[in-house]
This record gives sequence, C-alpha cells and structure tokens, in this order.
Amino acid sequence: MADLEGLLQRYRSLVPSVIESVLGGKRILVVTHIDADGLCSGSVVFSALMRKGANATLRTVPDLDPKTVTDLAAQNYDLYIFVDLASTLISEIEAALGGRYLVIDHHEISEADLGNRAVVNAWAFGCDGGKEACSSAMAYFFAVALDPANTDLSTLAVVGALADRQDSGPGRSLTGLNRVALEAAQRRGLLSVSNDLMFTGRETRPVHEAVALTSNPFLKGLTGSKDAVLALLHQSGLELKDGGAWRTISSLSDDEKRRLTETIAGALGAERGATEALASLFGEVYTLHFEDPFTPLRDAREFGTLLNSCGRMGVPSIGVSVCLGDRSSALKGAMKTLSEYRSGINKALDAVTSDPARIEQHGRLVLVKGEGVVDEKLLGPVISILTGSPAFKDKVVVGSASSRGDALKISSRVGDLYDGSVNLGLIMRESAEEAEGVGGGHAMAAGAKIPSSKAESFSRAVAARVGG
Ligand code: C5P
Repeated sequence: MADLEGLLQRYRSLVPSVIESVLGGKRILVVTHIDADGLCSGSVVFSALMRKGANATLRTVPDLDPKTVTDLAAQNYDLYIFVDLASTLISEIEAALGGRYLVIDHHEISEADLGNRAVVNAWAFGCDGGKEACSSAMAYFFAVALDPANTDLSTLAVVGALADRQDSGPGRSLTGLNRVALEAAQRRGLLSVSNDLMFTGRETRPVHEAVALTSNPFLKGLTGSKDAVLALLHQSGLELKDGGAWRTISSLSDDEKRRLTETIAGALGAERGATEALASLFGEVYTLHFEDPFTPLRDAREFGTLLNSCGRMGVPSIGVSVCLGDRSSALKGAMKTLSEYRSGINKALDAVTSDPARIEQHGRLVLVKGEGVVDEKLLGPVISILTGSPAFKDKVVVGSASSRGDALKISSRVGDLYDGSVNLGLIMRESAEEAEGVGGGHAMAAGAKIPSSKAESFSRAVAARVGG
C-alpha cells in the first residue's frame, strides 16, 4: 500500500531548504534522464521551481556515471536535483556534492541508500517503483509539496507512467501513486478515463494506420504494415471513410469496433498468444482534454511515445520543450522525430524477425542478435515490442546491438505472461559485472553494456540466472 502521506511529509521536510535556495537566488541544476519518464519528471521539477522564481537550469543525460557526476560537480551549482537517475551512485554524489543534492527516483536501491534523507525513492514509501510510481509521479508530489497549485502538472505524471509501461493494473490501468496523480488530473478536468480499444492514434489516424502503428501488443503481419491492414479491412466491409475523409477508431460504433477486432483476430489466426494479444487491446484510455485532437499529445500513451522518440533519437531538448508547453516549433520537431523513430523501429523489427539466425530460443530465454541491423538507440523499444508479441509474451527477451568502442548494448524485458519470478535489474547487474561491463534497471526491464568480446560468457551468465 502506497504511503502517500509519508512521501508528502518527507517532501514537506525538504521544501523549506529548497525554498531558501530559490529565494536566495542560488543556482539550481536539475539533472534528468533522456527517456520519457525522465523528460516528464525533470520538466515537472523544473516547472515547479521556475514558478517559484528559481534560478534553475534543466539538463538531460543519457546515463549517470562517476565521470558525469565529477563533471557536473565541477560546475559548482548550489543545489543539484537528480531525477530518474543516480540511484546507484549515491555515495559518489555524496562525496562530490556533500549536502548540496536531492535525488527523486523510482529505481530499486539498497536499504542504506533508502535511509538517506536526501534520497526520495518510491521504494521507501511502500511502492513498487517499477509498477506503481514512475519518477514523474514522484516529481509531481514534490511539485505539489512546493505549491499545492501545481496539480496541473499531474498530466505529465500520467504520461511518464504510461511511457514507462507502468499501466500494469487490470485493463492496463495505472495504480499506486501513479493513480493518485491520475485522479488529480481528472479532478482538474485535464484528463478523462474511458475503457476502449487502445490502438495507437485512435483519435488521430485513419483506422488502418492506427492498427499498423500499434506495437503493444505486437500484431504479427499487421504492426508496421499499413498496406496489409488496409487490404484486410477492405475485405471486412468496414466503412473506412466518411465522405472523403478517413475515419478514426474513436469514431467507430461499438458494432464496428467489434467487427474490427474480429477481423484482426481472424488475421492473427492460431498464432500462439493471439487471444491474449487481442484482449490486451481493450483497456483504460487516457485522453488529455486540452491537447489538440489531431496531435499525438491528445492520447497520453502516444504523448509518452513521442517523448521517448525525442529521447532515443538524440533530441531530448525538443521533448522537454513540449513538456514545458511549446505547441509550435517543438511539437512540429517532435512529430517529425516520432515518425523517424517509428520507421527506424519498423526496419529493425523487419531485419531481426526475417532472419531466423538472429533469434535464438533457449527454453524461456530468447536472445535477439541485433548487431549491425538495430541502432543501439532503438534496441530498448525493439525488445519491448518483441516481448509484447504473442510468441514471446511468456519469455524473457534479451537483445544486443553494436555500441561504440567495441561494446555491446544490451536490453532485456520480461513478457506479461512469464510464469515465474525474475529480477532483470539484478540479472543484468550481476551478469554484466561478470563480463566486465555495467548493468542494472528494473525487475521487468533492464539493460547493460559489455565488451563485445564477452558476448558469449554474458549470454551464459544470463541463461544460468533465468534458468530452464
Ligand atoms: O535501455 P533500456 O530501455 O533497455 O533500459 C531499460 C531500463 O534499464 C531503463 O530503466 C534503464 O534506465 C535501466 N538501465 C540501468 N542501467 C544500465 C542500463 C539500463 O539501470 N546500465
């Protein structure tokens, strides 16, 4: 059970010194991660500080390592706030910054670090930080503690949680502290919740495009194949146009929606896990009322994908600008990035799924060799999508891609239907250490970087830990 009161109390105990820094014109640096949850949470903390008149700067980093900590410390800010980062480097931060820092995070950390007053971590407040509290939700409660008027920032908490795939409650709902933030957004009339088909672009795209864009769940033969979906839907007799204009999924009647899912069920046929894949197409849909209906921002899941694309494609600042409210040039740039991101992912998926030598199955472990065909920036989303596919929903999927300096980037995910318990964060950390690399992350999603020469011993170490 989430201890919301405990969390708010902790923040309230920290707020006076933050306010003192703000009023004293002290230089504050907010450092956040480049994924969507990082962009949302960093923007929430930054907005809350700026609203108080702070002299604050927001910076994004792909990862925090000891060298980055030293470089940041050399810039001599008066206060550092790390968001969605840093949890494994608390002692380095303590050594470099003394009392001048705060860490707001949801990654699982050691008991000793949980006891540090400057570390506000979801796990210390009765929450599974991988499922019930993203960093954006943690940042949102910081913002509210700073000023109760900041409840408008709740929508970013919802976007961050969905982008981090924390919609793991019944019907793909948000739970825990994420839910508390969601309810605040509902109360302010910023967001509504409905139960519906959850195709990507359900409000904005022609029906066939929405089906082809949907990768969670991965619909074999349909995801990424607009033309194949169009041909299939023509056969089904669904009215795809209204006058000259394409219809969207949200404009279909209940009967038509049923026909659509039956048609997709027919196409997926006897594919293993197809029934579960279809069932997972229904669930909680989160609509942001103040966003333009014809942008990806309207649907909170798509908003999250847009931000992830900015982070992964090397333009996190565009994502931050969108989070901070830019709906002109930044949004245009983000939408272009999203389209490039999707086409990069589709090409990578095609390359790995069309070459049997690239996918090895060892019992419940699947190894995906993306070297040379999957850009390391896109490895995480590619492995997430494959893990959501009917064939691998009950597996642990570990992918690799070439990285700079003769290294391999590793991404790993656990399928929703995996029968057993596994902590990938731990598996990645231990296996990477044995292979002279570094690794870590959450129980259900984690990653690593290892020397290329250690690929085989790393795979063996992972296989031994995942087991039969
Ligand atoms: O890169 P990828 O999406 O596969 O990362 C999955 C999760 O693992 C992310 O939450 C990331 O922050 C975490 N991770 C980590 N340490 C690493 C690599 C990834 O904590 N060395």
